[in-house]
Amino acid sequence: MRDAGVALTLGIETSCDETSAAVLRGETEILSNIVYTQADLHARYGGVVPEVASRNHVVKLPYIVRDALDAAHVEARDLSLVAATYGPGLVGPLLVGVSHAKGMAFALGVPFVGVNHLEGHLFGHRLHRPLFEPPFMALIVSGGHTALVDVTRYGEYRVIGSTVDDAAGEALDKIGKMVGIGYPAGAEIDRLASIGNPKAIPLPRPMNDSTGFDFSFSGLKTAVLYYLRKSPREKREDIAASVLASVVDVLTKKGLEATWRFHRTKLVVVGGVAANQHLRERLVQDGEKRGIEVSFPSPSLCTDNAAMIAAAGAFRHFSLGESHPLSLTPDASLSL
Ligand code: KG4
Ligand code: ZN
Repeated sequence: MRDAGVALTLGIETSCDETSAAVLRGETEILSNIVYTQADLHARYGGVVPEVASRNHVVKLPYIVRDALDAAHVEARDLSLVAATYGPGLVGPLLVGVSHAKGMAFALGVPFVGVNHLEGHLFGHRLHRPLFEPPFMALIVSGGHTALVDVTRYGEYRVIGSTVDDAAGEALDKIGKMVGIGYPAGAEIDRLASIGNPKAIPLPRPMNDSTGFDFSFSGLKTAVLYYLRKSPREKREDIAASVLASVVDVLTKKGLEATWRFHRTKLVVVGGVAANQHLRERLVQDGEKRGIEVSFPSPSLCTDNAAMIAAAGAFRHFSLGESHPLSLTPDASLSL
């Protein structure tokens, strides 16, 4: 028997190329978290094709929601809240998730909450460590975003730096495409880097010495492109290790420096790139030296998933009393 007093939230995530649905009990207990990735569909194009992604979400989402309810052993009528990502992301894919969520909320007569995908990533960490409370500095590193956010408490954010061009994951994916690694390339670069030489190629550490907390990763991509023109036979594992060494250097330096500068003692690292083994090890090691505790969600809660969206929605609704009207439309460039 389920605890009747504890609310169940359905979360839906369709901001990019993952179709995901999850059921959460209370604010932090995951009952199910089904993630279907369309990556294979986009691999031949070397990146996400928005139209293809939207159409595939339309086909898959109803079944993914069904699977999430079944896996949680709940019926739709048991739900108290429906939450869906409404930005930032690709507008077509967002429309599919938001429309589905609003339709379900309307039919069930329960509230609907639109969730900011970036806040969702922060709640991926809350699911992993519910007792690890703000204040903390957060580093969000994904395929679409790279940002440093000072978190006073959940719901209260100050963005202190972000990328001026490509996101870290985007740069890894584009470099992966150049060297013939399938899309998305991050996880494969992670694996290859473990057997490569990080000093094989001298690459820049973009904006590493700038005083602010902004990032830039497109120069790295160009540096790899020019290097490969001169040395086309460079081994893939050495390219992967050298590129990752640069990305890890910059993220580690800026992440820890921001934490220290804003008088925080904890750094939370979230988003798909936070699944990276090299980044995790380096940040924890260097953090220890500076008295900063660095924490990450488990890898499956780093990459896009609906449990983190349900968690952010449940917090917004049950702790802050928020909900959205059914007229809410996606905002592709929503900020924190
Ligand atoms: O958070 P996410 O799933 O989607 C966005 O919100 O963008 O992040 C996806 C990004 C992709 O660029 C992917 O290559 C990268 O995360 N990624 C990784 C790893 N796993 C996924 N990057 C480095 N190492 C990994 N293990
Ligand atoms: Zn994401």
